[in-house]
Amino acid sequence: MGLQPPDFPRLAPELETTLFRVIQEALTNVFRHSRASKAYVTLEKRESEIAATICDDGVGVPDEIAEFRPDSVGVGLGGMRQRIKELGGELLLRNTHPGTIVEVVIPIPLHAIEPASTADEMFSTKTQNKGD
Ligand SMILES: Nc1ncnc2c1ncn2[C@@H]1O[C@H](COP(=O)(O)OP(=O)(O)O)[C@@H](O)[C@H]1O
Ligand SMILES: [Mg+2]
Repeated sequence: MGLQPPDFPRLAPELETTLFRVIQEALTNVFRHSRASKAYVTLEKRESEIAATICDDGVGVPDEIAEFRPDSVGVGLGGMRQRIKELGGELLLRNTHPGTIVEVVIPIPLHAIEPASTADEMFSTKTQNKGD
């Protein structure tokens, strides 16, 4: 497991839950389908998004699944992809010969990273009131 930054912050609950579920689903898939001997998870907080990868050294995914062709994916990855789209993010599946990598990027909701703008608004309101 690779965490960046190492003292990883708490996130909005729906973001944490979605990340937990997608990593859980991807690791269950590694266990069920990949015949891998190794799996590795990374979680990275960037300026305005969270990126996660789950990779394994197993048999890889067929092209029709990596391309999410209709009727090829199950409810596991299909459902996760839909949920992530609703949050404005993206789920990608790649065959890495050997193995599979699942990549997830989800934007961090704006209100969660810009408390300063709220403080500015409060201050300007106070200044206006002073003149009354
Ligand atoms: N890590 C993986 N390695 C190999 N195949 C995978 C992996 N993850 C997913 N798959 C393939 O993608 C399919 C769809 O996965 P998913 O949507 O989670 O459905 P389910 O796990 O219920 O079959 C799996 O049935 C499997 O064929
Ligand atoms: Mg599954």
